[in-house]
Amino acid sequence: MSEIISQIINKDQLSKADLIHLLSLEGDDRDFFLRESGNKYIENLGNKVYYRGLVEFSNYCTKDCYYCGIRKGNPNAERYEIDDKSIIEAAKFAHENHYGSVVLQAGERSDDAFTKRITNILKEIKNVTNGEVGITISLGEQTEETYREWFEAGAHRYLLRIETSNKDLYYKIHPENKNHNFEDRLNCIHTLQKIGYQTGTGVMIGLPFQEIEQLANDLLFFKAMNIDMVGMGPFIEHTETPLYQHKDKLWSLQRRFDVSLNMIAALRLLMPNINIAAATALQAIDPMGREKALRYGANVIMPNITPTLHRKDYTLYENKPCTDEGAEDCSNCLSIRVEMAGRKVGLDEWGDSKHYFNRTSGKQ
Ligand code: 5AD
Ligand code: FES
Repeated sequence: MSEIISQIINKDQLSKADLIHLLSLEGDDRDFFLRESGNKYIENLGNKVYYRGLVEFSNYCTKDCYYCGIRKGNPNAERYEIDDKSIIEAAKFAHENHYGSVVLQAGERSDDAFTKRITNILKEIKNVTNGEVGITISLGEQTEETYREWFEAGAHRYLLRIETSNKDLYYKIHPENKNHNFEDRLNCIHTLQKIGYQTGTGVMIGLPFQEIEQLANDLLFFKAMNIDMVGMGPFIEHTETPLYQHKDKLWSLQRRFDVSLNMIAALRLLMPNINIAAATALQAIDPMGREKALRYGANVIMPNITPTLHRKDYTLYENKPCTDEGAEDCSNCLSIRVEMAGRKVGLDEWGDSKHYFNRTSGKQ
């Protein structure tokens, strides 16, 4: 059996059948696959891991995704908004602690007051860190004009998960209306690439109704879209969301976790030079979840530097880890964890996606 796996791991082109095979592995065969592909990756691309200090600055959201705890239709979500000064302080903290980059994330809004505010915050972060902190933003679907304005203000990477590349499944986990439109979301990803952002997307793994074949297609979608960065992790049901009614159809949490690691390892074989994040949701299932992801192919980790007071309110899913720690505790605990995974932190580096530079210079 391990011979078949070795053959697949060493292929130049992985087919859909190969991916389905890898994603379905269990037991000793799976252990072999994860270990071999993790080692191959580290031998070829080095053992650096990059930090992105994550600031989840608001959970006000205008959308209603069926899986998300901060959806507009959840009256029980305790809403918060972190002021500009504290966001900039958090970015300074990242800078002083050699994180290299920050990620600004929030519920989705696209009103003028919001978009202008973000522009100012981006400029100010660049200002107070002498342009040294790299900025990724994850603020949902916006107009081309807004994306451009934010790019010009200093953001250079954008994360917009497609959530699933399967249109039918997309409409099982989102309302089907003008606010939640599959084609619009795809177009946003194209627009981000056109503007010049390093562009990231991703999916949730173990959604109700989702099948392994669809996950293999998700990986092929990332490749076909020429994506520079991926963040993907297990779906975790939230009691106050519409998808909760399908909880009996879900894979066990352990299986969602295992398949998530298989997805990361398989994607690393498929796209060796992209950035792959060790999603926080992995840690909600297994306390060593993110470290395992680092062993098997992830090279980005996002320490939470949101001021502690509000961390517990950014609950996209329940059991979110590290909601009590202050940023300093988080950074100490994390560097130890990264080293335990046999990796080294690339301090003070932006840790850009190598794939991006190849893509924009015409190579693959
Ligand atoms: N379980 C796991 N991930 C979730 N996200 C939102 N809700 C959940 C959930 N219940 C993810 C989505 C979104 C990202 C910010 O968080 O993929 O894009
Ligand atoms: Fe906020 Fe999906 S519920 S973007």
